[in-house]
Amino acid sequence: MNSTELQRIKQRYNIVGNCDALNRALDIALQVAPTDLSVLIIGESGVGKEIIPRVIHDNSPRKREKYFAINCGSIPEGTIDSELFGHEKGAFTGAIGESAGYFGTADKGTIFLDEVGELPMATQAKLLRVLETGEYIRVGGQEVRKTDVRIVAATNVNMRKAISEGKFREDLFYRLNTIPIQMPPLRDRGEDIILLFRLFALQMAEKYHLPKVVLTDDAKQIMLHYKWPGNVRQLKNITEQMSVLSEQREITAEMLSQFIPHDPDTTQLAIIPSGGNHSYESERDLLYKILYELRGNVSDLRRDLNTVRKQLEETRALNGARGFEPLPKETSDTLPVPTKSAIAPIPTPESHIEFAEAEEISEFETLNLSDIGRQMVEKALERNHGNRKKAALELGISDRTLYRRIKQYGLDNEK
Ligand SMILES: Nc1ncnc2c1ncn2[C@@H]1O[C@H](COP(=O)(O)OP(=O)(O)OP(=O)(O)O)[C@@H](O)[C@H]1O
Ligand SMILES: [Mg+2]
Repeated sequence: MNSTELQRIKQRYNIVGNCDALNRALDIALQVAPTDLSVLIIGESGVGKEIIPRVIHDNSPRKREKYFAINCGSIPEGTIDSELFGHEKGAFTGAIGESAGYFGTADKGTIFLDEVGELPMATQAKLLRVLETGEYIRVGGQEVRKTDVRIVAATNVNMRKAISEGKFREDLFYRLNTIPIQMPPLRDRGEDIILLFRLFALQMAEKYHLPKVVLTDDAKQIMLHYKWPGNVRQLKNITEQMSVLSEQREITAEMLSQFIPHDPDTTQLAIIPSGGNHSYESERDLLYKILYELRGNVSDLRRDLNTVRKQLEETRALNGARGFEPLPKETSDTLPVPTKSAIAPIPTPESHIEFAEAEEISEFETLNLSDIGRQMVEKALERNHGNRKKAALELGISDRTLYRRIKQYGLDNEK
């Protein structure tokens, strides 16, 4: 594969990285794209497996046909057959109409079966049949139907182990695994770790209009030697957290230790899982948004306040007003939020009412970064019914850091 073609693909899909193993994975994806061969993408959680089926579909003759990504692990066992293969009217309670299912609808297109290792055994048998003959039967039906679908599957579980434990059919595994594509874990990608950090830091900076976080050399060394059990997803989440929670834009090794779990034996996903948990994702997004909207407004606010302050002083001088209290000076680590409107009316010498309104700006509420941090910790504890271990995992921090934060925010005294 020539490197220009690889570059083009990376740009188109916003894929960052240059390590050999990633290039090889993309290279194989592009080579098999024009064929109908089944592809199995293998890799730990969070390595970026979901990019590959898109690359394959978009570069195949099927690119103008339908593409469905189905997460086999998130569909209940009772409904997965009807979702995949469709059902006839009245096939089960609630089946008011008929449904073509993904295999019927995606005819001539591509189906990406994510977490294929989670498929129930009965569904595996049906999938094997459709892969071998293109035939399937809807739930509650008799008629054998035909479909022409290209399958790309992905797994983060050890399939050989699943086979030996009787959880996955060996014949189906070989059928799916015609072309295996290995996605490398992040810890083996060397300098790509830093490139990915820069990408996510830049995305956060653009999204929230703030200066981007950068790493000192010693912080880079820690990033390069960390195990990254949650891979690229973990790096992305940690970079987002740093962008939001760190008051400094230059991240040192010491500061990094607040975001990266210390426990050397951490093998689980250390960080907020994506997908599945939408409520958390949106809550977190909301917090980021609130914080950065506030932050973004701060410099405007300061400017406005200074103008108002100057005008008040001028007005006072003009009026010869007495007993005027100077406005409090804002400090750099607090975000002043006026209780009423952000921009106070500009007082005129004649208007004493407006003058009084302008003074209300001195009633500041302050919202600082630790309030946001505190809310995140509180919410995580709430969601996990006070279980600190789980809350720490969800926040992507070590138990110890969580313990420190609970103490720092006084959350241990509340109960
Ligand atoms: N090389 C990369 N460049 C840019 N972003 C990436 C890269 N690899 C992964 N990502 C991002 O990392 C996140 C995790 O990737 P993805 O969801 O594809 O992981 P996965 O391998 O499917 O994990 P899981 O097995 O848990 O489903 C996504 O937000 C994805 O966009
Ligand atoms: Mg995935």
